[in-house]
Amino acid sequence: MEQEVFSMPRIGDDAPSFKAVTTQGEINFPLDYKGKWVILFSHPADFTPVCTSEFMTFASMEKEFNELNCQLVGLSVDGLYSHIAWLRTIKEKIEFKGMKNVEVTFPLIEDITMEVAKKYGMLQPGESNTKAVRAVFYVDPVGKIRTVIYYPLSMGRNFDELKRVLIALQTADAFQVATPADWRPGDEVIVPTAGSCGVAKDRVEGKEEGVKCYDWFFCTKAITKEEVFSTLKK
Ligand code: BEZ
Repeated sequence: MEQEVFSMPRIGDDAPSFKAVTTQGEINFPLDYKGKWVILFSHPADFTPVCTSEFMTFASMEKEFNELNCQLVGLSVDGLYSHIAWLRTIKEKIEFKGMKNVEVTFPLIEDITMEVAKKYGMLQPGESNTKAVRAVFYVDPVGKIRTVIYYPLSMGRNFDELKRVLIALQTADAFQVATPADWRPGDEVIVPTAGSCGVAKDRVEGKEEGVKCYDWFFCTKAITKEEVFSTLKK
């Protein structure tokens, strides 16, 4: 039997638009989030253990994401009443890794028709026909997809990494730089390759102030952690 082909938005695409019912009322995505970053993420199913640990962690960190002008929006192909019952169970009954009484206040989309999951390539039939994989889409303040990460059903996401990715994207935009492997705020950043021969020569010879070159194509400069956060929080 032929497999249904689903679209998968790519980095740089406009985030596919949709209207949906959520645990926090109706949303019109991405229009309602203009001017903000959004992490739109899917999970396989309510009342499952890995997802429960993920929701508790994300909800516990929500304020940190909001402080970076970022809203969280979850989705699974379950219905609204299942979402509500699951989130109530999490708050009332689950204590995990020091987290308890965790209230999930960000919207959780009901997607029984799988309309949104199909638009965003969250259904990956090789993994499951009936459950969304753990997809993470970063949508920027003008509604463009900026990063896409997928995890399989069995693996809980690393939320420190999800926050690091957001900060790296925002830092790249704010300072017009790139970030090297394992970059964290406070580490040196990569400056764009010099456009003209004169600038390249000055750089490599160490004459461009604050810029250190490992070779002509690999130059960095320091941006302190304080500079990063004071700029991002403006
Ligand atoms: C979980 O969240 O625990 C889970 C969900 C679907 C498949 C496997 C694990």
